[in-house]
Amino acid sequence: MIKELSNPIIQTLISSLRDKRTDALRFRHLVKEITRLLLNEALQNTRTRAKKVITWRGEEEHEVLDEENLVVVTVLRAGMPMLEAVMEVLPNITGGFLAIKRDEITHKSVLYYDRLPDCKNKKIIIVDVMLATGGSLCDAIEIVKDKCPEEIVSLNVIGAPEGLKKVQEAYPDVDIFISQIDEKLNENKFIIPGLGDAGDREYNTPE
Ligand code: PRP
Repeated sequence: MIKELSNPIIQTLISSLRDKRTDALRFRHLVKEITRLLLNEALQNTRTRAKKVITWRGEEEHEVLDEENLVVVTVLRAGMPMLEAVMEVLPNITGGFLAIKRDEITHKSVLYYDRLPDCKNKKIIIVDVMLATGGSLCDAIEIVKDKCPEEIVSLNVIGAPEGLKKVQEAYPDVDIFISQIDEKLNENKFIIPGLGDAGDREYNTPE
C-alpha cells in the first residue's frame, strides 16, 4: 500500500524544503516535522498495551505503544533527522543504521555500513527522505527482511512514481507512507521537481 499524505500543512512544509534559501538547520527541522506527521499516520492501527502509570489519583493502567517491538532504521545520510524525530516521539524504541549510497554514474545503490539491532518479530520503520529509483529502499528492505521482522513500513518525504512502482512490485507487503509524490525522474535519476540533494542540504555539503 502506498499512502500519500498530501494536505495543506504537508504542502506548506514541502514548499519550504524546495526553497533554495532554506538553510540546513531549517531543512532538518522541516524534515523532522514531516516525519512526525508520517509516523502518526503509519502507526494509526498499531496495537497498544496497558501500562501501569502512577497518576495523581494513584496507580492506574493506561494505553501505550509497545516500544520494545518497534525499530526505526535510517538510511544515511538523509534519513538521519527522520530517525531523530521518530526517537523524540518514541524515545524507548531501538534505532538501526544502514549506510547506502547511490552511485552517481550507475545510479545503483551500494551498502557501505550497517548496524541493525534485533529485528525478529518486530515492526520496522525504515526512514529516508527521498525515494527516487527505489534502489536504496529495495536494498534496505532486503537487508531488514533477512532479520525476520514481523512487518516493515517505510516513511519517505518525497518520491517519484517510477521508484514507488518498483518497490511496491518487489515488496507488496511493505506499506509506504510518503508526504509527496512528485512528477517523475529526469535522465540523471533526480526527482523532478524534487528538493535537490537532501543529504547535501541537511549537512551543508557543497554541491
Ligand atoms: C539519496 C536519498 C536516498 C537515495 C534515493 O541518498 O537520500 O537514500 O538517494 O535514491 P534511489 O531511490 O534512486 O536509491 P544518496 O545516495 O544521495 O546518499 P546521501 O543521503 O548520503 O546523500
